Amino acid sequence: MLNYTHISDLSNLKDTIENAIELKADPFKNAELGKHKNLVMLFFNSSLRTRLSTEKAARQLGMHVSILNVNEAWELEFEDGTIMNAGSAEHVKDAARVISQYADIIAVRAFPNLKDKALDQSEYILNSFVKYATVPVVNMESATGHPLQSLADAITITEHHKEKRPKVVLSWAPHSKILPQAVPNSFVETMQLLDVDLTITHPTGYELNPEITKDTPIIYNQKEAVQNADFIYVKNWSTYEPYGKNINQDANWMMTKAKLGNAKFMHCLPIRRNLIATDEVLDHENSLIIEQANNRTFAAQIVLKQLLLNLNN
Ligand code: CP
Repeated sequence: MLNYTHISDLSNLKDTIENAIELKADPFKNAELGKHKNLVMLFFNSSLRTRLSTEKAARQLGMHVSILNVNEAWELEFEDGTIMNAGSAEHVKDAARVISQYADIIAVRAFPNLKDKALDQSEYILNSFVKYATVPVVNMESATGHPLQSLADAITITEHHKEKRPKVVLSWAPHSKILPQAVPNSFVETMQLLDVDLTITHPTGYELNPEITKDTPIIYNQKEAVQNADFIYVKNWSTYEPYGKNINQDANWMMTKAKLGNAKFMHCLPIRRNLIATDEVLDHENSLIIEQANNRTFAAQIVLKQLLLNLNN
């Protein structure tokens, strides 16, 4: 694996999940692997979990970590051939090659602007680092995907389903802000690679990119969709077509204990309580939100481990 920008970069998802679970049982087993190696984490946007879990993962592999909040550095230019006489002080072509002098792996968080669909879909920030950096690049949530989160979610589901092929439901929930589609996109793509029965439920108009959902069933009646579910993953996202709109804030789509039934509740966090799901759901023993957050460390660690093994060969 040269970079980790998408779940499909893993050559074998099921083996990776099993290896992450083994690593969780003995997190310092590879504490020498990253010795004298530096992870540079670039944040174009805020983070709590991704920042702390990825740093912890790197340190458990013996790596050093440098963190740059990019908005506190020079404003970057991403267009090729432009005359840089406006705001941008440094071209990403130079910045990525310079950062590669200080990094053995670069990790990037860069959200979409949710205004220009073509620009967001081009993944111009993440892909500029892939193009110009001379070291591996890890996606810490980009415009269209969050593969570290979905790997942690897959680890969590694997740990909890022991007996049968689980029914997994991805349910939209209301939100007052316009949020990206990155988490649901990666969740769907990851579940499609596993032996699970995946259903998506959302109000009309919230269809995700059809190139991602493919033939995954979509049921527009939430109560019907969650019947007999083993895992219900709740998340808000804005519309894909027309792009980046918040067309429905119907509180009836909030997850309640009655709708959850005996299913396990999942969410990537951060979550707005009593908007996305009730306190009762979030604080119930069937809520996996803290386990998911814990598994972010082992998702990041197994990815960094694979990249380091590649570097050392
Ligand atoms: N789930 C997630 O990525 O959390 P942060 O935005 O806090 O990193």
